[in-house]
Amino acid sequence: PEKCVVAVDGPSGSGKSTVSRRLASALDGVYLDTGAMYRAVTWSVLQAGVDLTDPDAITKIALETELSIGTDPLAPHFAANGTNVDEPIRGSEVTGAVSAVAAVPAVRKQLVALQKAIIAGHPRIVVEGRDIASVVAPNADLKVYLTASAAARAARRSAEDATDVAATEASLARRDKLDSSRATDPLRVASDAVEVDTTGMGIDEVVAFLLKLLNSKG
Ligand code: C5P
Repeated sequence: PEKCVVAVDGPSGSGKSTVSRRLASALDGVYLDTGAMYRAVTWSVLQAGVDLTDPDAITKIALETELSIGTDPLAPHFAANGTNVDEPIRGSEVTGAVSAVAAVPAVRKQLVALQKAIIAGHPRIVVEGRDIASVVAPNADLKVYLTASAAARAARRSAEDATDVAATEASLARRDKLDSSRATDPLRVASDAVEVDTTGMGIDEVVAFLLKLLNSKG
């Protein structure tokens, strides 16, 4: 299709990134990792050494941070204030702080506006996050909510970054709780989203299923 916006939401470790990148490639479109945007801003906030319980200080740094956002599904590179942050945004420091930064309403407002502008400039795009179907792209052509059992999500994540499964499961649970319970744009299933439980499914299977859904929509 000429125009195709796909929203992919879900908790951490549900397979969102791998599925979204594969889907974007199959559609010959671009890929927007909104989680990486929150992570890049969090990196900048940590660099500045501001108090994570001070929303005004966080907002000030967020507004000052110049983001470079990669949208190539094969190699989505991110930079903040001219520094490549692909590695540090996946580290435990950023992962531990990102939900606090992402809960600040002014940070969300700034990043959602950027996300909407990027979507408007790309007719074929797969966007992954927590609030894409509900807030960022309410008119998406397809809205997907990916889930998987807590055990499956932790197993996948710890296989990716070689960490302890039990510690990973605890860290995912903590982040899910913060992301689902925050006041502004919490993680939730949009009423018109297709919910896919990927627990027993392989990546190929999930991508094929989503492509079939898109085709059936014309
Ligand atoms: O998807 P990823 O795990 O990289 O997201 C990191 C964090 O960014 C999430 O735990 C959440 O706090 C925040 N996030 C968000 N809204 C989005 C995407 C991510 O609040 N659309």
